[in-house]
Amino acid sequence: MCDPKGRAFSDILDVYLSRRSLLKATWLTVGTALLGAPGRSPRSAVPMRDIADDFSFHELRHGVDESLHVSPGYEVQVLIRWGDPVLAGAAPFDPAHPEAEHQARQFGYNNDFIAYFPLPKGSLNPRHGLLCVNHEFTSEELMFPRWSTGASAQAKRDRANTEMAAHGASIIEVRRVAEAWHIVADSPYARRITAHETGMRIGGPLAAHPRMKTQDDPSGTWVIGTINDCAGGATPWGTYLMAEENFDQYFSGSLRGHPEARNYTRYGVPKQSYLWGESDPRWHINREPLEANRFGWIVEVDPFRRDSVPVKRTALGRFKHEGAKCVINADGCVVVYMGDDEAFEYLYRFVSRDRFEKSAPGSNQDLLDRGTLWVARFSEDGALQWLPLRWGELGLTKEQGFETQADVLLETRRAADIVGATPMDRPEGVDVNPRSHCVFLSLTNNSKRLVAQTDSANPRAHNRWGHIIELRPPGGDHAAQHYRWDIVVRCGDPAQYPTAASWHPETSREGWFSCPDTLAVDHAGRLWIATDQGAEWPAASGTADGLWGLCAEGSLRGKGKMFLRAPVGAEVCGPCFTPDDETLFLSIQHPGADGTEHYPGFAKTSTFEQPATRWPDFMPGRPPRPAVVAITRAGGGRIGV
Ligand code: FEO
Ligand code: CA
Ligand code: CA
Ligand code: CA
Repeated sequence: MCDPKGRAFSDILDVYLSRRSLLKATWLTVGTALLGAPGRSPRSAVPMRDIADDFSFHELRHGVDESLHVSPGYEVQVLIRWGDPVLAGAAPFDPAHPEAEHQARQFGYNNDFIAYFPLPKGSLNPRHGLLCVNHEFTSEELMFPRWSTGASAQAKRDRANTEMAAHGASIIEVRRVAEAWHIVADSPYARRITAHETGMRIGGPLAAHPRMKTQDDPSGTWVIGTINDCAGGATPWGTYLMAEENFDQYFSGSLRGHPEARNYTRYGVPKQSYLWGESDPRWHINREPLEANRFGWIVEVDPFRRDSVPVKRTALGRFKHEGAKCVINADGCVVVYMGDDEAFEYLYRFVSRDRFEKSAPGSNQDLLDRGTLWVARFSEDGALQWLPLRWGELGLTKEQGFETQADVLLETRRAADIVGATPMDRPEGVDVNPRSHCVFLSLTNNSKRLVAQTDSANPRAHNRWGHIIELRPPGGDHAAQHYRWDIVVRCGDPAQYPTAASWHPETSREGWFSCPDTLAVDHAGRLWIATDQGAEWPAASGTADGLWGLCAEGSLRGKGKMFLRAPVGAEVCGPCFTPDDETLFLSIQHPGADGTEHYPGFAKTSTFEQPATRWPDFMPGRPPRPAVVAITRAGGGRIGV
């Protein structure tokens, strides 16, 4: 069980039990009983380690302003920004005159997930590689001059096309020279993937299924584009996984008498946050009734071949995919952990039928097309059971409207409801410590949970602050049906009684955070947490989003430490370390966007003309720009050590 040193479990248990009473006595926990289910004392199942496991950087102060701040002794380089060239011949950034054609060759908007693949392929080169970056969504009021919903039909069509071109992904070749990172111009790998033009194959059980067929694609095997790709994953065979999250936002129309009404209702389709359906019928569910079934999947991309066709891997289920953490189990099976980021949704796991073959790369191409999707049930006693979503079992039958396994995968949420999964407080990031095999899960928040709906895995009602759970597969077996779990921290301000927060008592006034989103385990096995509080940041913490180190094991388990703070209105996401841990790539998403009404001295909604910040360019008249930054240590060395 999660033993980095390979000791017998009985030895670990002795250490753990002898220290547990001490931990319980010193833990900083307040007020849980009044708010919901009693809190469980955070604890570690691994041997206690020395205090030297603490992060060594100097901690930043909480606060909010227009700039990006990092711990002293570290350097921040803005590597690439919205509108910078990706493909050869890209037009210069001209935000006053947005055009879809230009955007399709430039870096997209709202960069989220980042994967680094060393070059040459299969090496561990920390100074030359490919960066794959998701472009999750667009913030129209900051992206377009004079934005309003009352534009002409032609203007709306042009805008929709530009937004579609700003979605998807960018693949760039990067190289570190003389301690600065550079983008390789005219790279043979450079690529834009968009919602507007990129053709994708539908793979797995839904390929050619009648519920995937549209007027444009009567075969049900081909779809244009991908949307709302949030986090993602990297596979050991060198592909990149994009996670389609809030696909409901893009569709317009009415559900009255709609053939997919039950299915679409469960996902919130059509939410109509975007107006694409006004100019393009495929985003209007009454004109193209099944198009919304073709989104909400994990998309696999081979970044090493610019002409490779991305594949929607339908065996991994359809929901609001936050990310896709991929590990090779000891038996060779591929395991992918995936959260469904919405209040009261579930944690999933895919286990492949076939094994990863390191010596035969060609045989791994379609590993994600065959396997079993499982959903998690958390018990009060710290046990976790994975429930299979297999047609014909646990009520997933024709009587419930599932004709075959394809229907189970298409309506994953409804299948998970039926088998009795545990509704969680918005499952976001998942990462795995490869040494201990422990799995970390961030639950970002859930203010909708009532006292009567609390349980030990979601212990706080009106949870504005989120928490982090550790899952422990027995013997490190990620395919086992039964795990153990525990809460690492309950987030929020521990000095504020109503939060019922729990942190290690050595956590400083700056070390706590709220709304954990992306998790990253570096190559030393240490856990980093990026936050996304959204517009609720004043109530969640009163400080800007950022990146924190979090001690996850040993005597300091539960101690947070603040490393980086984002500009006002921005979310931090995509933390990605090079193999030597000497560079940290990070996404700064939607600067100036979220909750600027509460930003002292600004106190209004941000617009293109009047943004709360103009980070990172700070040029008069220029809007803020989502960007990827590269963080290194002045004089060299590993980050955070
Ligand atoms: Fe796109 Fe759940 O964050
Ligand atoms: Ca995001
Ligand atoms: Ca996220
Ligand atoms: Ca989030």
